[in-house]
Amino acid sequence: VNQPIPVLLNEIRFSFEQLKEHFSRIFFLCDKNTFKFCFTPHFSSFVPKENVFVLEAGDAHKTLENAGLFCTFLLENQADKNALVINLGGGMISDLGGFSASIYQRGIEFVNMPTTLLSVADASLGGKTAVNLHHTKNTLGLFAHPHSILFSPQFLLTLPKDEWLSGWAEIIKSVLLFDSTKWEEINQLEQLPLSTNKQSLSLIEFCWKHKSKVVDRDFFDKGVRQALNYGHSIGHVIESMSIREKKPLLHGFAIAAGMKYENLISAKLGLMDGKEAIKINLLLEQWFPVIRKVKPEFSKEFANILLNDKKNKTGKLNMSLLSKPGKFYIQQEVPTELIEEVFNQTL
Ligand SMILES: NC(=O)c1ccc[n+]([C@@H]2O[C@H](COP(=O)([O-])OP(=O)(O)OC[C@H]3O[C@@H](n4cnc5c(N)ncnc54)[C@H](O)[C@@H]3O)[C@@H](O)[C@H]2O)c1
Repeated sequence: VNQPIPVLLNEIRFSFEQLKEHFSRIFFLCDKNTFKFCFTPHFSSFVPKENVFVLEAGDAHKTLENAGLFCTFLLENQADKNALVINLGGGMISDLGGFSASIYQRGIEFVNMPTTLLSVADASLGGKTAVNLHHTKNTLGLFAHPHSILFSPQFLLTLPKDEWLSGWAEIIKSVLLFDSTKWEEINQLEQLPLSTNKQSLSLIEFCWKHKSKVVDRDFFDKGVRQALNYGHSIGHVIESMSIREKKPLLHGFAIAAGMKYENLISAKLGLMDGKEAIKINLLLEQWFPVIRKVKPEFSKEFANILLNDKKNKTGKLNMSLLSKPGKFYIQQEVPTELIEEVFNQTL
C-alpha cells in the first residue's frame, strides 16, 4: 500500500463531496473538543450529526472499550465494507479511529484530518494505529495507512497553547534527529510559534518529508524507523505513569522529558558529548518549562513498563539515542541501572 502524503485542504466542503463519490457512507470520529471546534463550524451544515461518533477527550480514552463502542456504532449504522471513517482530531482520534476502521469487517478505509500540531506533523502519517491497554501506551495496534491525510490550518485555530507546545516536542525531535542546520536555526528561538505561520508550516513540511522517507524505508519498524522513537522509550513510561496517577501529562511534554533523560543516558554511554547534552537539555527546559518538574522515580512498576515496552527485545532495554543534532543510533542497549542513575542526576 502506498503511503499518502498530507494534502492541504483548500476547500473543505469540496473535498468532502469528492470523497462521497468514492464511498457508500461516511462516518466521523471526533472527541468532544474536535466535535465542538472543528466538526460544528466546518461540517455540520452538510453532514448529519447521526454520522458522528464523539468520544471523551484525552489519551485516557484511547481504549479498547472505546474502539469496541465505535465499531458497534458502525455496525448499528449498517456501515458496509465500502464505508469510510474520517478521523477528525488529534493523535488520540487518528490512533483509535485508524485502529477501529482497520479491524471493522477486517478493514475499511479511513481518512485522517489532523486538528493538533502534533497530529499534523507526526501522528496522522506513517500508518501506525493503536489503543492503550490498562494504561499502557499503544499495546494493541496495527499498521495501516490512511486513504488520505487532509489538513487545514483552520482546524488549528482553537488549539490551546499547551497543545501547540506539545506538538512542538515531536517537531523538535525530528529536527534533532535529521538536520543540524535546521536545529541551529530553531535554537535561536526564545519561544516556539503558537500558530501556523510560515515558519511552523515549513517545519511541518520538514517533518512530513523526513517521516515519510523513513517510513518508506522501514514501514514495519524493524530498523531505521526506530530512530523516531528517540525520547519515547522513557517518554512513554513517564506518560503511562502520569495516566495511572491521574495527573496526565500531554504526550509531547512526556516526550520532551524523555528526550532530556535519554540525552543524559547517551552522554553516560559516551555516545553524546556531555556538554552537547546539557546544551540541548537547557533549550528543552526553556521551551517546555513543565519538563523541568518531571522527575521520575525509578520504581519496580516503572521498570516493568519499560521492559514491557514493545521497543525492547527479550528483556533487554534497547533505545534510539541521539549522538548530536543530525546523527542518531538505533538499538542501543541500555542497562537499567543507568536509567536510575540519570533520574537521580540534576543538570
Ligand atoms: N500513530 C503515530 O504515529 C503517533 C505518533 C505520535 C503520537 N501518537 C499518539 O497521538 C496522541 C497524542 O496526540 P495529540 O497530542 O494530538 O492528542 P489528542 O488527540 O488527545 O489531542 C490533544 C487535546 O487537544 C484537543 N484538541 C484537538 N484538536 C483541537 C482543536 N482544533 N481545538 C481545540 N482543542 C483541540 C483534544 O480534544 C485533546 O484534548 C497519543 O495518543 C500518542 O500516542 C501517535
